[in-house]
Amino acid sequence: MQNLKIAVVGATGMVGQEFLKILKQKGVSAANLRCLASSRSAGNTIIYGDDTIEVEETTIHSFKGVDIALFSAGGETSRYFAPLAVKSGATVIDNSSAWRMDNEVPLVIPEINSEDLKWHKGIIANPNCSTIQMLMALWPLHRVNPIKRVVVSTYQSVSGAGGKAVNELISESRQILEGKAVTPHIFPHQIGFNLIPQIDVFLDNNYTKEEMKMTNESIKILHAPNLALSATCVRVPVMIGHSENINVEFADLMPADQARLLLTKAKGVRVLDDPSINLYPMPFMAAGSDDTMVGRIRQDLFQPNCLNMWVVADNVRKGAALNAVQIAESLVENNWVRASGER
Ligand code: A2P
Repeated sequence: MQNLKIAVVGATGMVGQEFLKILKQKGVSAANLRCLASSRSAGNTIIYGDDTIEVEETTIHSFKGVDIALFSAGGETSRYFAPLAVKSGATVIDNSSAWRMDNEVPLVIPEINSEDLKWHKGIIANPNCSTIQMLMALWPLHRVNPIKRVVVSTYQSVSGAGGKAVNELISESRQILEGKAVTPHIFPHQIGFNLIPQIDVFLDNNYTKEEMKMTNESIKILHAPNLALSATCVRVPVMIGHSENINVEFADLMPADQARLLLTKAKGVRVLDDPSINLYPMPFMAAGSDDTMVGRIRQDLFQPNCLNMWVVADNVRKGAALNAVQIAESLVENNWVRASGER
């Protein structure tokens, strides 16, 4: 990682800032980093440890000499610039939803399907934040007892909708406490002291795009075409950390104790599950952590092959920036940075 030239597209955004924090922790030097954003931020500086890096406007020339480009600047920017970055010789890891369901693009959670990186053609997609933490908790169980059906409800923090959404929660909360009326700009309704059972737009089947991302992305990542997964995605007035209530049906009996043991051994997963001391994961515990936290693991009361569980993770870290950097690390470790056609 330390010897590669890395560009961060969307460096001024929520996820972009987290990319920089993680790259600094991994020992990437400022000299090997290019911070890209829109023309609005060009010329601004970003503090990177003891260094400052100037933000540059993203153009078709931005990717010359870049080995890996980490994108988190929205679908439109990715759709336009990712192929241009690949043409310039960079490998793109994209956090938007633009390329996730493209058959030519691997969709990867390194703990689960890093083997899919082998066949990348220049672009690799980072899954949706809610998909990542759900599968981090389900994969260790699915490996030993295949999952047939999942019903999941999410409680997603505002940071998942970007920096402006975080500011909207802060300003609405202040206005409501002062007895003033609020006018939402980012969310379809007031998010301060409220929750909204809609994330992204509604589709013809009355599910939202976010909900269908969880279904379709899970099928692709697990290579499980028959997985039956229904999601309800809800925005909640939490800054960082998505929570999920999952009801999962396995092919065979999965005792809660066995699930707890399997999850305790899983890399990147932390079990916090002790009702006797009110121990379970909550978003404020997950914020800033690399782990996906699991608790409230218990048998379904009526379906013997089913479990209920509660899963919480930092959506900006494991749900976005950290997973993308782990993809980059996996590419480097396996010598797969260059697309398979070029190796
Ligand atoms: P900018 O700060 O210049 O607008 P967030 O997800 O927190 O809302 O951040 C979005 C990120 O995407 C920001 O870094 C933003 O840069 C960047 N961005 C938005 N539009 C473009 C664009 N057309 N080209 C490059 N970066 C963009």
